[in-house]
Amino acid sequence: MIAARPPLLTGRLVLEPIEPRHSQGLWRAKDASFTELRRWMAWAEQARESQDDFVRSAHEQWGHGEWVYVISFNGEPAGTVGIDRHQPLISSADIGYWLRTDVTGRGLMTEAAAAVVDWAFHELALHRLELRAGVENYASVRVAEKLGFRRGGILRHGARNPRNYYDVYVFDLLATDERPGARAKSIEANQRPPAGEVRPPSPPVERPRTAPRND
Ligand SMILES: CC(C)(COP(=O)(O)OP(=O)(O)OC[C@H]1O[C@@H](n2cnc3c(N)ncnc32)[C@H](O)[C@@H]1OP(=O)(O)O)[C@@H](O)C(=O)NCCC(=O)NCCS
Repeated sequence: MIAARPPLLTGRLVLEPIEPRHSQGLWRAKDASFTELRRWMAWAEQARESQDDFVRSAHEQWGHGEWVYVISFNGEPAGTVGIDRHQPLISSADIGYWLRTDVTGRGLMTEAAAAVVDWAFHELALHRLELRAGVENYASVRVAEKLGFRRGGILRHGARNPRNYYDVYVFDLLATDERPGARAKSIEANQRPPAGEVRPPSPPVERPRTAPRND
């Protein structure tokens, strides 16, 4: 049995650990965003069964190197933001996200991702987060910048959509870097994930206290 996993709350969003019950709503969100998603996401054209398999697997794999949150906006699933490619030896992992097209451009992904970044540094005790954004994916690049990520080099053909590979910028953020203030609070503040789901390699890093930036 999988223990209860608290959602994260932000000003406008509820971020819930992914569960099979989210599948239908995510499918609707994906279907409504097909044109934009197929520019950037390798899975954009996957069939419903493949998506359901992913949702089931992500639910079961929670805490085993990946943590996927469903973004709920006005009570409806509107996308996901997740941590994966966890490398425990160097306390590093990747963050990725997508959002339903009709609710983009309102700062929602920055709000959602900021909450998960904060959660990952505190609850998973990560030291480093990596984010890859297509060099022409201006919205995603901007989200990375607003979150305080720093731009590194280019990975040639570091990602693909259903048709083509494309180049990506690698961004990273260290737990000790200056970044905008935390915008989420767990329903049960400071509650750690259930025992056995996360094995922090080092004690939690103290959050730098910085003034919010006017990005
Ligand atoms: C990328 C994505 C998650 C952004 O979500 P969002 O909720 O619109 O993001 P935000 O509103 O928090 O921020 C978007 C920023 O990009 C800017 N932006 C959007 N389109 C832009 C463009 N064509 N050129 C320049 N800036 C652009 C917005 O103005 C905003 O910046 P601002 O706050 O400084 O004005 C969303 O567009 C999406 O899901 N795209 C498809 C999937 C995807 O690309 N995922 C990321 C893969 S790395």
